[in-house]
Amino acid sequence: MQKLLIDGKKTLSGSIIISGSKNSALPILAATILNNHTTIKNIPFVNDIFTMLNLLKFIGLKYRLSKKTNLVEVINPRKNINTIAPYKLVKTMRAGVLVLGPLLAKYRKAKVSLPGGCAIGTRPVNLHLFALKKLGAKIKIKNGYIFATAKNGLKGTRFRFPKISVGATENAILAAVKAKGITVMDNCAVEPEIIDLLNFLKKLGVKINIKGRKITIEKSLKEKKVSHKVICDRIELGTYIIAGALAAKKLKLKNIDKSLIKKEISVLKRMGVKMSIGENFIEVYKSGSIKNINLKTDPYPGFPTDLQAQIMILMTQAKGLSKIKESIFENRFMHVPELRRMGAKIEIRNNTAYILGPSILTGAEVMATDLRASVSLVLAALIADKRTKINRIYHLDRGYQDLEKKLINCKARIKRV
Ligand code: UD1
Repeated sequence: MQKLLIDGKKTLSGSIIISGSKNSALPILAATILNNHTTIKNIPFVNDIFTMLNLLKFIGLKYRLSKKTNLVEVINPRKNINTIAPYKLVKTMRAGVLVLGPLLAKYRKAKVSLPGGCAIGTRPVNLHLFALKKLGAKIKIKNGYIFATAKNGLKGTRFRFPKISVGATENAILAAVKAKGITVMDNCAVEPEIIDLLNFLKKLGVKINIKGRKITIEKSLKEKKVSHKVICDRIELGTYIIAGALAAKKLKLKNIDKSLIKKEISVLKRMGVKMSIGENFIEVYKSGSIKNINLKTDPYPGFPTDLQAQIMILMTQAKGLSKIKESIFENRFMHVPELRRMGAKIEIRNNTAYILGPSILTGAEVMATDLRASVSLVLAALIADKRTKINRIYHLDRGYQDLEKKLINCKARIKRV
């Protein structure tokens, strides 16, 4: 199993090109089931994307990749379509469940494995199924699979999600775009990745209106040859801004859209992070003194749970007591015991972490537990004394394109063994 060896306390300098958003590319890839010929640009080549492409291939779609230009072309050949998402492909990546909506909408039936739990919580799909039932699907759960049918096609309707969910909103959108009549969904997630999916679907003739958390979908999707560039990965961007704030003389982050991270920028400014922000770049510098802060993760436009583990490293360097409340997932502090072994002073009570800083971090052998927890260990290692050995880095490869290459180019000392 591969590990990362990181020698800390090296000053970073240079520039990093931010990749396209994985969480935007995944639902758009699921949407290619609904179309005949789709080209997606700015695709990050990370393992979750390859898993989704394998799933599309299993279903019967064909694709061509261009790694040089970060592009993928997906063709739905219309025949020999298998409306199944097997356990082996959904268990490693929950987003596999996003093929449920499009398969059901287009082929009127789907058999999709239940994704199961994962390190950060139980992660049910009840809200996905709730929305599909409202659209007229009949759903049964048997032998670990969701069996969904809509013999006469899906029908537009009105409903309100009882809880905000990114994946359930995406699945519902991907089904509603082929439903007869108008669908009005309230209490939707409105993450930039969802807006990107909607912008893609608009190119296929779907009429969409968004007002607050209410999404209205009318006019069914028309298949046509279409091309779409996914937005920049705001979580990768936030991760590298924090890396810069921790350890950079000057780190320039390019290929970005600053409008996607307004909340994060305001939080980092409050913490005293020095940045200079252009239209499509951010320069960040290590600042002498970081201020403590109280934060809470929330659905967009709130502070993202996907940056909770990373900002915690900055909190270990802030003067005084910082707090971060995790309000999205019930078990997303798996990085904390590992950070404590590196010298961080962190206590957890209920769903809040209390971080006392500044503390001197020291290298240790640690274990990555999920994608964002893993990258927080990388950030900690960058500022730790001596060497950190990070085990189970396959989590990182699921979501960060060329992580060590990008950091090594900026003078970090990292080796994969
Ligand atoms: C997506 C992101 C993930 C991010 C999360 C929250 C992708 C591929 N993943 O995950 O990186 O951390 O949004 O921003 O885009 N829930 C239910 N029932 C459901 C669905 C969700 O109770 O049917 C709960 C979850 O357990 C969780 C909360 O709702 O507590 C939010 O989850 P959700 O927004 O659905 O996350 P994902 O779409 O899985």
